Amino acid sequence: MSMYTSKIAGLGSYVPDHIVTNDDLSKIIETNDAWIQERTGIKERRHIQKGDGNSTAIMGVKASEIALERAGLVPNDIDLIVFATLSPDMYFPGCGVQVQEMMNMRTIPALDVRNQCSGFVYGLSVGDQFIKTGMYRNVLVIGSENHSGGLDMTTRGRSVSVIFGDGAGAAVLTRSDKDGKGILSTHLHSEGAHAKELALMGPSTEHWVPEIIAENPQENIPYYPYMNGQFVFKNAVVRFSEVINEGLVANGLSVEDIDMLIPHQANLRISQFVQKKFKLSDDKVYNNIQKYGNTTAASIPIALTEAWEQGKIKDGDTVVLAAFGSGFTWGSAIINW
Ligand code: ACO
Repeated sequence: MSMYTSKIAGLGSYVPDHIVTNDDLSKIIETNDAWIQERTGIKERRHIQKGDGNSTAIMGVKASEIALERAGLVPNDIDLIVFATLSPDMYFPGCGVQVQEMMNMRTIPALDVRNQCSGFVYGLSVGDQFIKTGMYRNVLVIGSENHSGGLDMTTRGRSVSVIFGDGAGAAVLTRSDKDGKGILSTHLHSEGAHAKELALMGPSTEHWVPEIIAENPQENIPYYPYMNGQFVFKNAVVRFSEVINEGLVANGLSVEDIDMLIPHQANLRISQFVQKKFKLSDDKVYNNIQKYGNTTAASIPIALTEAWEQGKIKDGDTVVLAAFGSGFTWGSAIINW
C-alpha cells in the first residue's frame, strides 16, 4: 500500500472561438445535419483558424493556466508535465517541452503520451504513479488536440472529418493528505492487433512524404486518418464496459456507487449504449460531444471541467473516467472526489 494518493486539485479547459456547425460542413462536404446528429450526436465543433494564435501546445497552456489557478498553484510548483495528444505542433519534440517553456517552468521533466482517445486516462495514471511513489508532489496532466488542420475536408473523408474537433483540457494532480480520497485506481489496456483500424499512417518512418507523393495514392491517401467506424464502434462498447467494471471491482464498488461517469466523447451513441448497459440515469453521465465533437485526448478533461464547473461533481462523489480509442487502447480511472 502506497503512503500517498493523488487528487485532482484544479481543472481547466479551452476551446477555440470558431464554431463549425453541421450546416457549415455541408457546404464543403456532401453531408447533412440529420446524418451527423443521428449517427454521432454532434451538432457543432470548434476549429482553430489560421491567425487565431492557437496550436495544440498553446491551447494546452490556456487550459493549464486555469487549472493551476484553481489549484492555487503557480507554474513553478509543478514537478512533471504529462502531455497527451495525437496532433502535436511538431513531429518532434513533443508538446510537453513547449508547455515548460511557455509557462516559464523550471527544468522539470516533460513527457508526451501517445495514446489517442485514451491519452488523458493514460496521462492521469502516469501522474498518479509518480505521486504514489512519493517522487513528485504536483503533476500537470494535459490533453489537447488540433484535429482540424489534418482532416480530409472533402466528401472522401466525411465519415471521419465530421466527427473531430479542436480543444484542450488540463488537470493538476497533487498529493492528497486524506486517506481514501482522490484517485483510487487506474486501469490501462491495449490491443495492437487492431492498430490499423483507426490510424494515421503517414508521414511516418514507414511513409515519408516523398514516398507518399511518388506513389500518389489518389484513392488511399495515408496522411489522412483512417477509421473502420463500425469495427471501432463494436470494440468500443465492449471495452468501455469491461474497463469500468474492472475499476469498480478493484475498489469493491458497484454500479450503484457511481455518482458521475465521464466517458471519452467518442460518439454520443457509444456513451448512450454504455449508459443503458449500466442502467445509469441521465444525471450520472456527462456528455458534451454535441458542442465540441470528438476532441480525442482533450475530451475527458474538457467534459470533467464542465461537469465540475456546473456543480455536478461534489465532495465525496465517486467519479469514473473511461476511454477507448486508437491503438486500440482503453482505460479507466476511479476517483473519490
Ligand atoms: N454524411 C453523410 N453520409 C455519410 C457520411 C457523412 N458525414 N459519412 C459516411 N456517410 C455515408 C457512407 O458513405 C455510407 O453511404 P452508402 O451506404 O451509400 O455507402 C453511409 O453513410 C453509411 O456509412 P457507414 O460508415 O456504414 O455509417 P455508420 O452507420 O457506420 O456510421 C460512424 C459511421 C458514425 C463513423 C459509425 O461507424 C460510428 O459511430 N463508429 C464509431 C466510431 C467512432 O465513434 N469513432 C470516433 C473516433 S474513435 C474514438 O474516439 C474511439
